[in-house]
Amino acid sequence: MKIENKTYRTIWFENNLVKIIDQTKLPHQFIIKDLKTVKDAINAIKTMEVRGAPLIGATAAYGLVLSIIEKNDLSFLKKSSEDLIASRPTAINLKWAVDRMMKKLSDTNDKDILKVALNEAEVIVEEDLGFCKNIGLNGLKIIEEIYNKKKDTVNILTHCNAGWLATTDWGTATSPIYHAHQKGIKVHVWVDETRPRNQGANLTSYELNEEGIPNTVITDNAGGILMQRGQVDICIVGTDRTLFNGDVCNKIGTYLKALAAKDNNVPFYVALPSSTIDWNIKDHKKIQIEERNSEELSHVEGIDRNNQVTKVRIYPKKSKSMNLAFDVTPAKYVTGLITEKGICEASEKGLKGLFK
Ligand code: MRU
Repeated sequence: MKIENKTYRTIWFENNLVKIIDQTKLPHQFIIKDLKTVKDAINAIKTMEVRGAPLIGATAAYGLVLSIIEKNDLSFLKKSSEDLIASRPTAINLKWAVDRMMKKLSDTNDKDILKVALNEAEVIVEEDLGFCKNIGLNGLKIIEEIYNKKKDTVNILTHCNAGWLATTDWGTATSPIYHAHQKGIKVHVWVDETRPRNQGANLTSYELNEEGIPNTVITDNAGGILMQRGQVDICIVGTDRTLFNGDVCNKIGTYLKALAAKDNNVPFYVALPSSTIDWNIKDHKKIQIEERNSEELSHVEGIDRNNQVTKVRIYPKKSKSMNLAFDVTPAKYVTGLITEKGICEASEKGLKGLFK
């Protein structure tokens, strides 16, 4: 998608380096950063220079390529894979991508290993792009249906950033929106700011602006009243891990939005590539919910009057904080799952129907 009218992807490989858009600097600065070592890749995931479930999967895949460039040694590669998986615990794509790479490399000889690893990482990236594009084409039908009935702007609420910046391109939750916009359907997006890291305000609003899609940033708590007032036609969010029973783990606050949607009969859809499905666990209590540094809560970063990026504390030093990064929305609150293969019920039957 575009930034200042130039088309980008979020990650690419060039001259033995992995190139990323440093998302900790957006929206105030656009910086392309080089990842030179597997340590750089791990650090980029941990510090959220790259974030969003599909993108951290892609970064981990390239991270293994960097590991091989650094040292073509099996025990080093194994350690790299473990460190990459441990860098963020909740999004399943990370483990999915590393396991897939390691499986591919397990019976490859030393001489070919770099070529095979790079090829597989590129396949993962291309595949994600295709998945996200198809999610958009499938989700477009839902938006189109609302538009044909309403004959007016479709108001879509989204949470966090499940946009192209969270994937390799198109995004998951935003892909149906981009497709609708390209088809000439009038859309407007309510963007939850998504405290504490403000991925909605900083990233979703930014990428929608760059694509010329009308959007309004709202506080995380405003969705309820907007739904009561009939100002939300549909919610579409992303997911970091979808259990095969249809429960959805996503950015903290998603669950409350789903409850409000249920109470107001607003359809609540979750968009996901199949790489986000966890086929191994059914009990959401077994998902490790990432708990992040409390400084993300106690401090906010922005641009000051002199156009300088600055960080300030917003509550007493003495106050305790807890920073849970994700929550789980039970399947019963999810109207449907929008996947690359089609739309299904949020249930084991629904998912198995699409993904045999
Ligand atoms: O903590 P983040 O910014 O990595 O969280 C991202 C989200 O929660 C997204 O909604 C999710 O990864 C889906 S991305 C297509």
